[in-house]
Amino acid sequence: TRRITVRDITLAKERGEKWPMLTAYDAMTASVFDESGIPVILVGDSAGNCHLGYETTVPVTLDEMTMLSAAVVRGTRRALIVGDLPFGSYQEGPVQALRSATRLVKEAGVGAVKLEGGERSHEQIRLLVESGIPVMAHIGLTPQSVNAMGYRVQGRGEEAAQQLLRDAKAVQDAGAFAVVLELVPAELAAEVTRVLHIPTVGIGAGPECDAQVLVWTDMLGLTSGRVPKFVKKYADLREVMSNAAKAYAEDVVGGTFPLEEHSVH
Ligand code: KIV
Ligand code: NA
Repeated sequence: TRRITVRDITLAKERGEKWPMLTAYDAMTASVFDESGIPVILVGDSAGNCHLGYETTVPVTLDEMTMLSAAVVRGTRRALIVGDLPFGSYQEGPVQALRSATRLVKEAGVGAVKLEGGERSHEQIRLLVESGIPVMAHIGLTPQSVNAMGYRVQGRGEEAAQQLLRDAKAVQDAGAFAVVLELVPAELAAEVTRVLHIPTVGIGAGPECDAQVLVWTDMLGLTSGRVPKFVKKYADLREVMSNAAKAYAEDVVGGTFPLEEHSVH
């Protein structure tokens, strides 16, 4: 088996095929999704909130993303692995972006990188693509800018919609092979999807996108507390794990684990 490539992703849009993407931050979880046929796995900087215990994605470092991305690559055989460039690793300009992306490609082995920003990031995208590194763009709500924009729906109103369309065209013109649309009105996401020839990957962007992405801990019910409205919970792993931990604790305290069958002589 060979890995899915960005070429396969391009062909999927030409064929009108939709595809799913999930995040993963470790080898074992990634191997489950890979074996389940998820074609694209994103090592998102949502690892900040979902894996590393930060409040936002802002503190995540390139060292952390490199380590997590390498684990996901090692745990998978077929999926295209996309590594997120964290805040501060590409904003200085194209050269910094290339240096950072090169680490994810060479040290972690990712097949593509993702970065946030439309028009504001087009020079970074262009240099990476010219250098042979496929780039997934990310527009609409961009969580690394939480301190400036908060977590609000993006592209509401005529002016904001026009800006989102300009951002979408800018990343396509710069050579991105796909673009994430986060928390964008469904009608606007549908229009972007029609206008672009590269696939749109929606999260909170309605049903018309070419692909969808969810954060795995949200999708599987492991995240504690509330999850955004756009999440569909396919399992309740928090409940499953909590029940198992309690049962184990009871067994140990009550002397019913380990038993003879778990012992060696
Ligand atoms: O970090 C992440 O998980 C993401 C997706 C939500 C697109 O950027
Ligand atoms: Na991200």
